[in-house]
Parts: sequence; C-alpha cells; structure tokens
Amino acid sequence: MRPEPLQIGPLSLDTNLLLAPIAGYCDLAYRLTCREQGGVGLACTDLLSPHGLLRGTARSLDLAQTVPEDTPVSMQLYGSDPQIMGEGALWAVEHGADVVDINMGCPVDKVTKKDGGSRLMVPDEGIEDTPCRTFSLALRIVEHVREVLPSHIPLTCKTRLGWAHDRDAPRLACDLVRAGVRAITVHGRTTVQRFKGEADPWAIRRVVDAVGDLSAGSVPVIANGDVKDPHSCARMLEITRAAGVMIGRAAIDRPWIFRDCWHYLTTGEIPEPPGPVEIAQIIGRYFERMVRYRGERHAMVQIRQRIGRMTKAMVSPDLPSVKPLREAVRSARTPADVREALDAFCGGRLVALPAAVLGHA
Ligand SMILES: Cc1cc2nc3c(=O)[nH]c(=O)nc-3n(C[C@H](O)[C@H](O)[C@H](O)COP(=O)(O)O)c2cc1C
Repeated sequence: MRPEPLQIGPLSLDTNLLLAPIAGYCDLAYRLTCREQGGVGLACTDLLSPHGLLRGTARSLDLAQTVPEDTPVSMQLYGSDPQIMGEGALWAVEHGADVVDINMGCPVDKVTKKDGGSRLMVPDEGIEDTPCRTFSLALRIVEHVREVLPSHIPLTCKTRLGWAHDRDAPRLACDLVRAGVRAITVHGRTTVQRFKGEADPWAIRRVVDAVGDLSAGSVPVIANGDVKDPHSCARMLEITRAAGVMIGRAAIDRPWIFRDCWHYLTTGEIPEPPGPVEIAQIIGRYFERMVRYRGERHAMVQIRQRIGRMTKAMVSPDLPSVKPLREAVRSARTPADVREALDAFCGGRLVALPAAVLGHA
C-alpha cells in the first residue's frame, strides 16, 4: 500500500517518517543532518525541561535551539505539573515549535520518580494493587496544555505500551485522544521492559485500531521501535497499520535512513547507500553544524565519541577497516585536526581507498 504523507491536526508533513527524540543526540545539528538527507517528515527535540526553558538555563536553550531550515519541528516536554507544562508549551511555540509533544515514555528513574515520563502511563488502578493517580494527572496535563496552546499547534504524546502491561495501551491512548492530543506515538515496549526484547508491532496495532475507531482516522498513531531499515519500516507499517513510523537509534548510524525508507515505501526500490567518501562528507557537515550551533568544545567532545558509530556504515568488502580515520578523529586536538582527518580520508591519504570507492563520492 502506498504511504500517505502524515497529517497531524492542521499540519501537513512531506512524509510519514519521524526522527525520534534521542536525548544527547537529536540536537539542531543532528536534526539538520538527517533533514539534509531527505525523507524526514517531522523531527523532534530531545526531551526538554519546562523549568529549564522558563528559567533560560543554557542546557535547555541549547537543546531547544532551532532555525528556519529545521522545520517542521516538534518540541518535547517532560514533567508532571500541568501549569508549568502549559507555560513550557507556550515558550516552545514562541521559540519555533510547530508541534508540542508530551513525553510519556521515558523510563529513567530521575524522571519517573517525579511522576513524569512513562510514570504518566500508569493506569489509575495502579500497579500490583497500589493505586496511583498519574494517568489522571496525564489527562489534566493534556487538557491544560491543549487549552493554552494556539489552535493551529497540534499537541501530541509519545508513549510506551504502558507501564507493565500492554493491555492498558489502547484504553489509555483513547483517553488521551479524548483529552485533546492530535497524534500519538507508541514505542512498542512497556516501561518495565525498558529496551529489552523486541518492540511488539501487534500491540501497537491494537492501539491503532482503538484510536482509529474512536477518531474515525483523524488522529494518527505513529509506530516506533526497532525500525532499522526500509524492510523493517515497511513491515512495521504493514502489521500495525499505523499512519507513520518514528525512527531513533538507526538514524544515529545512518542519517539517510528516512530517505531510504520513504523511497522504498513509495517506489519499492532502495537507493544506493552512500559510499565512504560521501559518509565522511556528511560527518564533516555535521561537525561544522555542531561547531556553529554548540561551539568548538562541544563539537570536539561529540565527534570523538560518535566517530565510531557514524563510520559503521562505511565498513564494506571494499573498505574493511576505517580504523585510521576513527583514530585520527579521536586523537584530534582542534577542529582543524578533525577537518584535516576527514579531508585526508576523502583524498585517499589516510586509508588506501580503492578507485571504486574514491569515485563514489
Ligand atoms: C539514548 C536514548 C535516549 C532517548 N531519549 C528520548 C527522549 O528524550 N524522549 C523520548 O520520548 N524518547 C527517548 N528515547 C526513546 C526513543 O525515542 C525511541 O522511542 C526508542 O529508542 C525506540 O525507537 P528506536 O528503536 O527506533 O530507537 C531515547 C532512547 C535512547 C536509546
């Protein structure tokens, strides 16, 4: 079935593929790097603290930073105080958000202990007979944020299947829709699972069916979890019948995954993967964006940490080792050293690049 670009409330996207929030990764520099490759319908910021935004802390402002090319962008807020979440949502809109998302999936203790993140998905009857009012709180947050947001800005939620049981997910999702969310992303694991096991597309399908019946298809459900390539993307859509797919971890190694998935979904063909020189150029542009938006210090720390992961896709029978490039970047002391390492690699001076690889830039 040919995919439709996604519609979230009044917002029309170019595709039905979304870049997931991945705390520590999906800042402006990375979102632009994925967008440049094509196929991204909507990109999301990392989770943002509304307190941090309202106080103007440097870290929150860095994470919420956006520019006109970074459109459409969703800003994700976490927390449990409806009032503060409402103020944070307004701040987000005043600072460029096209969509405001509420985090209901984060399993990290620091967030859930304060009733934020996936704690909001605990049904009111509680866990193992311990009643808990956090889902009611989630509904109050959604209702309040919906009330204060301008009507053209859709409010969305990113959830898991539930805290402990996937049986809760369809009911909770329908209540969120009644409270005013215009799209729901479901990561196909429970909080208790964290990242163990596989995401369950059949459990996501039950949410899709329930929300579809309730909203007559006007509120899209976006499926998320373990999509690694165009085939797993097509399979996720086929099983779940979701309106869109959100991709996280796979986009860190391959920012071009959205282009590949969209091309495959619309034509049945998978584009040629970028060659090692092209990948090095993508990494180079990403590095320059980090320097520009977050400063040299940040860019140097990040590039040294990420070079391994970002060069994974270079390894092929033509180029079995990219060790010299990784080592040169990891030992770089200045941005000029990083640029020199990438240039030397692209020019075949760091690793003996076969002619076929050099030609495939
Ligand atoms: C390191 C890391 C950080 C994450 N940060 C966030 C976050 O800030 N907000 C959120 O909603 N989900 C976050 N997630 C969850 C992802 O958005 C996504 O739901 C999950 O990784 C499953 O999708 P994937 O298999 O495509 O990666 C994070 C996941 C990882 C691994």
